[in-house]
Amino acid sequence: VTKRLLLGYLGLTLIVLLALEVPLGIQNARTERHDLESKVEHDATSIASLAQTAVHTRSQRQLAGVAAIASSYAHETGGRVVVVGARGQALVDTTPLGSGRETFASRPEIGAALQGRVAEGTRWSRTLHERLLYVAVPVATGGRVEGAARITYPMSSVDARIVRYWLILLAIGAAVLALAAVVGLRVGAFVTRPLRRLEATAAAVGRGDLAARAPDGEGPPEVRSLARVFNATVAQLEQLLRSQREFVADASHQLRTPLTALRLRLENLQRDDDRPELDAALAEVERLGTLVEDLLRLARADAQVESAPGEVDLCEVARNRVETWSALAEEHGLTLVLATEGRGLARASAARIGQVLDNLIENAIHVSPEKRTVQVTAGDCELRVADEGPGLDADARERAFDRFWRAGDGEGSGLGLAIVKRLVEADGGEIALEPRAGGGLEAVVRYGAVALRPAPRRRREAAGVDWRS
Ligand SMILES: Nc1ncnc2c1ncn2[C@@H]1O[C@H](COP(=O)(O)OP(=O)(O)OP(=O)(O)O)[C@@H](O)[C@H]1O
Ligand SMILES: [Mg+2]
Repeated sequence: VTKRLLLGYLGLTLIVLLALEVPLGIQNARTERHDLESKVEHDATSIASLAQTAVHTRSQRQLAGVAAIASSYAHETGGRVVVVGARGQALVDTTPLGSGRETFASRPEIGAALQGRVAEGTRWSRTLHERLLYVAVPVATGGRVEGAARITYPMSSVDARIVRYWLILLAIGAAVLALAAVVGLRVGAFVTRPLRRLEATAAAVGRGDLAARAPDGEGPPEVRSLARVFNATVAQLEQLLRSQREFVADASHQLRTPLTALRLRLENLQRDDDRPELDAALAEVERLGTLVEDLLRLARADAQVESAPGEVDLCEVARNRVETWSALAEEHGLTLVLATEGRGLARASAARIGQVLDNLIENAIHVSPEKRTVQVTAGDCELRVADEGPGLDADARERAFDRFWRAGDGEGSGLGLAIVKRLVEADGGEIALEPRAGGGLEAVVRYGAVALRPAPRRRREAAGVDWRS
């Protein structure tokens, strides 16, 4: 939009400039020449009347007087004054070439003047090799033409002035165009900058960052009100999603109690009366319970995703989680160890990291055979959970992050790693499963550094978890 606006603006300015300046320049050139011509004609007439007596009498003294006036005139103006006799021979010549007794009969303007006419115009001089502006007037006594006076100017001096005028016009035009460009750019930016921000915000919302809002205090009123409407819509959407999420969380939470009660009743019944239908019913209730638990876990993870990342000590969170899990690890005959490297600072949310570690440690304990070690490593912006279990092949390592995907038909529901991935991405980090040299699997999580503040765009991406997935 800016480009088009600018092009249109500059095009219009250019047309106006051309329409104004070209006639002005042409008019100026014409006026310059005309002014010079009329001035020179006036001077030529004066010199002709001055020279009248001298030409008539041919007195050397009087001719010398005319020559003196002519040369001071020539000196002042840069023109050339020639006075000729009736046959065109030079009597006075302020810039004599050669002997100074040249004959000018061959010059058309002298010929015309000797016939009693005033001749003026421009022509190419073959002797001087340049264009001349000339005025020739007859010198007459008592009605008889006895000679002619001619003044010539090299056109180059007039041309130089005309060219200078054109250059000035050009400079003015360029300055006006530059000004127009600056103004055009400003106007363009005034309109398009808030539109771009709005676009960026819309993209962020599209990626799932429902907290993103467009600035509604800049640009023209139309854009402002568009931004306001957009923000209101996003707020509405955010509210809608939140209430939906809350509903899922509440519903699953509320379902747990009656489900537990139902299971107890079924178990009591089963104790009294051993019927196969009761076993089946109990199994169904178990499945229902798992489903409700999963729903609750998803709803909780969704709520976690919303909080903003901050500065977190990975080592501290890891130490806390390892302590919590070591009892269960011991129960399984495993050793759970923690290794720390560096300062372990990262940009993330402690609650999310805790949940990530819980899931990874749970998986590791779950797959590890007895007497093995599960090692948690916390380093700068990095968390690792390594086990000595069966590991996963390359294809399974990719798919493990899919919802409800499980390698075998284990007890889990296959949600853990999907939730982990989402939590890690909410902090702008990334997670990968890597095979270990001696068998087993290592989950590697990387977060953004604290010192290197992520750029706004990056941060928005980081928070932009897709709520539809
Ligand atoms: N450390 C590991 N070693 C080998 N396989 C693993 C490991 N961690 C996960 N897996 C495999 O990936 C599957 C998906 O793991 P995920 O944590 O998503 O689900 P889950 O543990 O089965 O269920 P949930 O975590 O929801 O209770 C697991 O079923 C398991 O087969
Ligand atoms: Mg799991």
